Amino acid sequence: MGPRNASKRRLSLTGIQKGVTPVRLDEMAPFLDRFPDRPKAELLFSGFRDGFRIPAPAFSIPQVVRNLKSAVLHAAVVSEKLSKEVALGRMAGPFPTPPLEDLVISPLGVVPKKEPNKFRMKPILGAFNTAFKRLLKPEYEDGISLPRGWTQSLSINGFTLPSVREVSNEIVKLSTDSLKLDDSNSLMFMQWGQWLDHDVDLSVSTPTNSAFLKNVDCDKSCDNIYPCFPIKIPPTDPRYIAGSKCIPVIRTAAACSLTSPVREQMNGLTSYIDGSQIYGSDINVATLLRNNTNQLGLLAVNQKFSDNGLPFLPFKDNVPDQCSRTHPTLGLPCFVAGDVRSNEQPMLTSIHTVFMREHNRLAKELHKLNPCWSGEDIYQEARKMLGGVMQKITYKDWLPLLLGDKMSEVLPTYKSYSKDEDPTTSNVFTIAYRMGHTLVQPFIYRLAEDYSPYFPQPVVPLFETFFASWRILRQGGIDPILRGMMANKAKLNSQQTR
Ligand code: HEM
Repeated sequence: MGPRNASKRRLSLTGIQKGVTPVRLDEMAPFLDRFPDRPKAELLFSGFRDGFRIPAPAFSIPQVVRNLKSAVLHAAVVSEKLSKEVALGRMAGPFPTPPLEDLVISPLGVVPKKEPNKFRMKPILGAFNTAFKRLLKPEYEDGISLPRGWTQSLSINGFTLPSVREVSNEIVKLSTDSLKLDDSNSLMFMQWGQWLDHDVDLSVSTPTNSAFLKNVDCDKSCDNIYPCFPIKIPPTDPRYIAGSKCIPVIRTAAACSLTSPVREQMNGLTSYIDGSQIYGSDINVATLLRNNTNQLGLLAVNQKFSDNGLPFLPFKDNVPDQCSRTHPTLGLPCFVAGDVRSNEQPMLTSIHTVFMREHNRLAKELHKLNPCWSGEDIYQEARKMLGGVMQKITYKDWLPLLLGDKMSEVLPTYKSYSKDEDPTTSNVFTIAYRMGHTLVQPFIYRLAEDYSPYFPQPVVPLFETFFASWRILRQGGIDPILRGMMANKAKLNSQQTR
């Protein structure tokens, strides 16, 4: 069959059942008809119809061209591109000998195969639920696992360790009245920092909050019994009240290692800046977050509430939860997103919501441009673009504000992807990067469209907003919060103690 008999589109090759080619062969045929080189035109046509057969040293792989509906809409471009490819001898087809070694097919022609070994060869590096990278040697009490301070009477360099609560009171306690604000950076600067953190690390806790052997509840106990490692509150502390002498802490989970008995911590997220807080770091969460009812590549949205016509994140389905308990009468559940901390405070939830909406906006645009793309293609492409947005804002806009003149010293200019670079987040980063807590104001601010205070409660103490999804759902949505972040200053990033 030649280009002129182009109507039959269901394909069947010996031994291989194929679906319908997405190429409008009938529309493509007239263009191919004009090629002076008839054998090549025939080969191209059969390639688009049946898939191209790439000659390889040991075997040949048929590859069906996909995603070409948009190409059909731009017939002139296709025609020009095809002519060029054929003229250059680069067009794929069942050539007797390959015109270039190692070719792979792109939707509109062929591209040289990526240099062997150049691209990602160690997919486990930076994967979720793997150990953080170690930059500093561990200093466990027993050299293997016990955290320092576990045995309170133990002296280190001749001293017993002070209470961490006392140290924190000494170093970071700050009265709200003496708060110094940052004249250069808005609260959005703070918020991007936390948002970024939730893309690259989550130190996984042990999955239980009670000690197996002694049946001790870590939320109530003041004893160090694995996995409980409570922080003792000194009697001089204002928070020291009868019955609450400890802040519960549960130890982080240990990552398995086949090579060393020394305890390592585990990252519950992908280390790459890839928008994993939007999409999830594993396939189960990622699937749950998608709109699986159609082939449009969209993320799922809230089915019960909307924000002046725009979508909210979907709800978790196991109520009562942390969020519903913040307002038992309303009983509104937490939102669900790619990172489990998305409801921690409303500024963070608002950014989650913006990025979910942006994914869906991109997906809709991509669908318009490429009506033939599958939902999976659209989802992956939009996801890739949003990952790029995360990286762009982080490296070009945010880090220069954070690092200032030091930027070029500490971050050499990016050259290109290197498979030898280990992207794994380090455990010391998860500690050092908490410096961002010094940027947090003790309030969230809400502003109306004209940037006047948004009533009934324009300023809310931060602690009253933790996991309070109802404050977004029932108090004006995310816009007043976003405006509040843009128009208010971050706390000055300094170790201010009075
Ligand atoms: C209102 C804003 C914020 C709140 C309420 C908040 C709260 C918290 C809480 C409760 C934790 C867990 C503490 C623990 O159990 O270890 C945490 C961890 C952390 N925070 Fe924040 N944070 C905020 C902003 C930020 C910012 C702006 C940054 C950085 C620029 C940041 C970086 C981190 C890091 C690196 C961790 C450790 C994460 C891990 O690997 O598990 N946070 N934060």
